[in-house]
Amino acid sequence: MAKKPASNSKKTQTAAKPSSLVDTRVIYCGDNLEQLKKLPDECVDLIYIDPPFNSNRNYEVFWGETKEKRAFDDRHASTQAYIDFMRPRCVELHRVLKKTGSFYYHCDWHASHYVKIMLDQIFGENQFQNEIVWKRTSAHADTHGFGHVHDIIFRYSNGEKPTFNVELKEYSQSYLDGYFKYTDEYVDTRGKFRINDLTGSGLRNGETGKTWRGIDPSKIGKGRHWMRPPEELEQLAAEGRIYFPPSGGVPSWKRYVNEIKGQPVDSIWDDIQSLSTFSSAAKEALGYPTQKPLALLDRIIKASSNENDIVLDAFCGCGTALVAAENLGRQWIGIDVSPTACRVMAKRLRDVCKIKEDEKLWQIGRGFVVRDLPWTEAKLRAMPPFEFENWAVIALGGRPNVAKVGDMGIDGRIYPISAIPKKDKGELGFMDVWYPIQVKQKDKVGRPDIDSFEAVMTREDRTKGFFVAFDYSSDAMSEIQAFFKKSGKTIIALTVKDILDEQIAYKLA
Ligand SMILES: C[S@@+](CC[C@H](N)C(=O)[O-])C[C@H]1O[C@@H](n2cnc3c(N)ncnc32)[C@H](O)[C@@H]1O
Repeated sequence: MAKKPASNSKKTQTAAKPSSLVDTRVIYCGDNLEQLKKLPDECVDLIYIDPPFNSNRNYEVFWGETKEKRAFDDRHASTQAYIDFMRPRCVELHRVLKKTGSFYYHCDWHASHYVKIMLDQIFGENQFQNEIVWKRTSAHADTHGFGHVHDIIFRYSNGEKPTFNVELKEYSQSYLDGYFKYTDEYVDTRGKFRINDLTGSGLRNGETGKTWRGIDPSKIGKGRHWMRPPEELEQLAAEGRIYFPPSGGVPSWKRYVNEIKGQPVDSIWDDIQSLSTFSSAAKEALGYPTQKPLALLDRIIKASSNENDIVLDAFCGCGTALVAAENLGRQWIGIDVSPTACRVMAKRLRDVCKIKEDEKLWQIGRGFVVRDLPWTEAKLRAMPPFEFENWAVIALGGRPNVAKVGDMGIDGRIYPISAIPKKDKGELGFMDVWYPIQVKQKDKVGRPDIDSFEAVMTREDRTKGFFVAFDYSSDAMSEIQAFFKKSGKTIIALTVKDILDEQIAYKLA
């Protein structure tokens, strides 16, 4: 059995050094078209992007909506809109990529063919390196056609020879059983062997074109050459590594199963599971359907960058590329238009990578920072309602409802740390103890809003609930008091100003 191939990149213990070219370990909140313009030319080594297909609904795409099946005309119209949206962004990405850098574009069947043409135009057809097929699922019930089970990842270079570290993976058992069938006197140490060509096609004038052991390679077929000079062939023969057919003919090269290093990863990736509930990678899942597995980003980053190189993800969602880059000792820059996504990834970097979100530490080359978050009341007012809800829930340390339709009057839940699990519910018993959060992007929450939240609390039998809005009418406040007197249940009415002033949002970001 072949040995497990050695990884070509180890997890570093030391933090990556800051770059002199550009600020790294920064998450920028904002439209990447604007944010990218702030970066100098040719400053990053590796770019990975995984843009939402339907750009004009990008907020929803982060939070949930992905499965769309529309009429062809509709899809075609939105594909054009998508390409129009992506083109100037890819032009900017091309500009900031170093000449030795690599660019990965993650997409799927909706637009992959159009994306390829656009990228050929921007990077140049001869910079195209790979179309990677990531088989993200095996089960896709579609009775009208073949199930869509894969994503496409395009890989481009940018003019010069890009960094590329070959990753070796284990050979499949069926491959080993099918090819390594022969034994000789070395079987106990080298294992079984297979035979490979000892000659290559084409004539050579040098050593490898010479006659060896009476065989002239130029006379084989249309003319061949030895894979090694005769002197080395003799050495290999002395070590028993050459197979001489008993009936004569061209000798072959013996490859022993215990000595093969592993199979270079090719362009079909079927060994990385998605974050579906039952996969072994499910424990990474933060609850956002567009989140990609760390193993996928690990592979890309290891292949196309070296330690301390700069990795940029300009649509970074939950920050999978940033976490992978940090773990692998690379520097990184993240951009996302969604403030919620920025906070989610900041929390992930703190929790998973154990690095601090701290301006002072960042200035001395440790820690990281999030820039350009819309923290003012005015900006929060202008946020799409969806984002505002998520902002408020996360600011309170709660978990937003991923399904935004049919939320039954609950926008999020707080699971207090102090909750004592119910004995008969096992490990997840604490999930029974939670407080509902209701968010209204309104200036004056009135009594009817409070009435309906009271109904939610009664229905769900909750003792405490949180309400977030810009302000409350006096009727609303009196109703909250009356509800407490009547039922003993508490509604905590918070204003956006309360949250901003106390900087709860910053602390919990
Ligand atoms: C498919 S998700 C990326 C998921 C990510 N690969 C991960 O593993 O978490 C796409 C992200 O692009 C962001 N986005 C959409 N339009 C953007 C824009 N114009 N500028 C920056 N980010 C944008 C969305 O907010 C969303 O978080």
